[in-house]
Amino acid sequence: MPRAMDAFEYRDGALTCEGVLLSDIADAVGTPVYVYSHRTLIEHLERLRAAFALQATDPLICFSVKSLPNVEILKRLVAHGAGLDIVSGGELHRARLAGVDPARCVYAGVGKTDDEISAALRAGIGLFNIESEAEFENLASLASRERKIARAALRINPDVDPRTHRYTTTGKRETKFGVDLDRARAFFRAADGVESVRLTGLHLHIGSPVYDPAPYREAVTRTVSLMDAIESDHRGRIFETLDVGGGFGADYETGQSPALAEYAEAIAAPLRSRTAAGLRLILEPGRMIAANAGVLLVRVVYTKQSGERQFVICDAGMNALLRPALYSAFHFIWPAEVAPAFVPPRRGRDVDLPGLVLCDVVGPLCESGDFLGEARRLPPVARGDLLAVHAAGAYGMSMANRYNSSPLPAEVLVRDGEATLIRSRESFADLTAHERAAVLDGVGARDPVPAGERS
Ligand code: LLP
Repeated sequence: MPRAMDAFEYRDGALTCEGVLLSDIADAVGTPVYVYSHRTLIEHLERLRAAFALQATDPLICFSVKSLPNVEILKRLVAHGAGLDIVSGGELHRARLAGVDPARCVYAGVGKTDDEISAALRAGIGLFNIESEAEFENLASLASRERKIARAALRINPDVDPRTHRYTTTGKRETKFGVDLDRARAFFRAADGVESVRLTGLHLHIGSPVYDPAPYREAVTRTVSLMDAIESDHRGRIFETLDVGGGFGADYETGQSPALAEYAEAIAAPLRSRTAAGLRLILEPGRMIAANAGVLLVRVVYTKQSGERQFVICDAGMNALLRPALYSAFHFIWPAEVAPAFVPPRRGRDVDLPGLVLCDVVGPLCESGDFLGEARRLPPVARGDLLAVHAAGAYGMSMANRYNSSPLPAEVLVRDGEATLIRSRESFADLTAHERAAVLDGVGARDPVPAGERS
């Protein structure tokens, strides 16, 4: 079984999604536009479930909202049995609109505010993933004020190296996430006797993307020893849940990620006796489900030769897709319509066909770091051509921004040969909608500025 699948393929030289021509979508809604494949999203969710079923484990799969937060996407994943992993009040709002059962939501994040926690308590969120002693105390007092009993898991920091980008490494001791293993035992001792929070689980997330299953095995093995130690400290305490987070790889290049069965085995094997005894495993995948389910379509505005370099200047760059500028991330880029000789045999840095031209694919913004792809070999492109930036479904639209006053892109979902606009392109009026002057009553200099000195 292929590792990651997606429904974007060339037919007669034209890129399609589930049979729909991407050029038709671009003509209908303009560019930049994100296009998602429903079939890919759902199939990835089901493949992950199947991989764990082979390990006799039935995890609660909480899709990581931050990776692809469009409510219409969330609704469809929820309809296929996904819970949701949220990290903010804004994501709670989206989860509610998506109609998910709140009991199937987990809530992580190092900086949950009082308002966010209270809203999540009132919504009946299934599990708070606690990141610090201070947050635990705060949750306890807010829960007793709301007359609720919160269910919580302690996020631990297993100090394993996921061997990924420094910015997305989260399970190393020096990061801000979770509580060190040696502090976790003391944490549980202090939590005993707190009535408004039931601390029933552990949570970890080592980083993202993690292409090697070994760090998962190591982190879970360390966690199981910690569970044993805590249970022996506290007679009667039995862990009910273990949330191992997300971070499973996606195919930015064809065949890049390991088979899901390898992740499932690495995670499930050290837990075998615990899951058999009723421990519920929770997963928080984002990228693995969404990345290969989406492409970003941009149009070439100009091409330009500058010294030795050939620039392909597009109508969107780091505003629509920040990952190349922020992490030097690789996204395969190719024209959406090509001569038969230029249909790419696979996606990767090393695709080489006769006649390719070396170029930098850049955006229109006033930053030298505004690129979608550096030093790429592409078929010759011209002004007006449509380019597809692949594997952009996760952390694409969710990290898009309005820099240089760029309206946010549109989003389209394709399902069974039908395309639906699920987010319209922002207008210029949207850009300035919140920019209205309103003098703040009750806020002003203690010594009022004399009328004659005002600017
Ligand atoms: N759970 C927790 C606690 C997380 O912090 C994350 C991602 C996930 C789950 C989902 O990870 P995934 O399965 O999607 O890899 N902006 C970066 C990724 C940052 C990930 C942050 N946390 C990127 O564009 O690669």
